[in-house]
Amino acid sequence: MKRIIVAIDGFSSCGKSTLAKGLAKSLHYAYLDTGAMYRAVTFYFLRQQIDYNDPAAVDEALNHIHIHFERIDGQNCTFLNDRNIEHDIREMWVSEHVSPVSTISAVRRAMVHQQQAMGARRGIVADGRDIGTVVFPDAELKIFLIADVDVRTSRRHLELAAKGIDAEWDDIKKNLEERDRIDSSRADSPLRKADDAVVIDNTLLSEQQQLEKALALVKEKIDS
Ligand code: DC
Repeated sequence: MKRIIVAIDGFSSCGKSTLAKGLAKSLHYAYLDTGAMYRAVTFYFLRQQIDYNDPAAVDEALNHIHIHFERIDGQNCTFLNDRNIEHDIREMWVSEHVSPVSTISAVRRAMVHQQQAMGARRGIVADGRDIGTVVFPDAELKIFLIADVDVRTSRRHLELAAKGIDAEWDDIKKNLEERDRIDSSRADSPLRKADDAVVIDNTLLSEQQQLEKALALVKEKIDS
């Protein structure tokens, strides 16, 4: 069967990763969490106290950052220099710096290069902010997810609580809105809907309903 690339973009906490994981599982495709890669870089800069406003320091640090993914007990885990940092990169202190770090062109170049290599054989579902526009502009299916901001905040709140991460609802909402603002207004690869992307508003959809909608779109592309 034809193997395609599914590109999913959208604002923070729109349910992109839930949809991407569901699709990857149903289709037996790889899942690429590009946000985790920007989070891993941010985690490294903060832990190593690298001034990310200093271009030379960023260039030097990027040479020491190696990111890979492993599946452990059915979970997609992000590794930075062979250490599992999946839990740490979801913490608020990382979320608070990840959007500014993602505006740095040198960081984006390095991440996009790796992402394109991971998708070279197709059969991949990738989610992020620039997947349909920059990383895989030739993806057969592009989805742009949207959802009401209060619904997104509640989902993130539940998700963090399930991981044992304690965060205030108002702080989460402020962080989402601030990241949306930075991610869509940055000069390099701003978040925007690709012209050929299909919009899915999942405010009132269950996970299963959103998955079924997307699977129907995949089927159309594979059959065409
Ligand atoms: O999907 P996420 O919330 O884990 O992403 C974290 C941040 O990474 C997001 O605020 C912007 C950045 N990002 C990006 O700039 N480009 C991507 N393809 C994915 C994420």
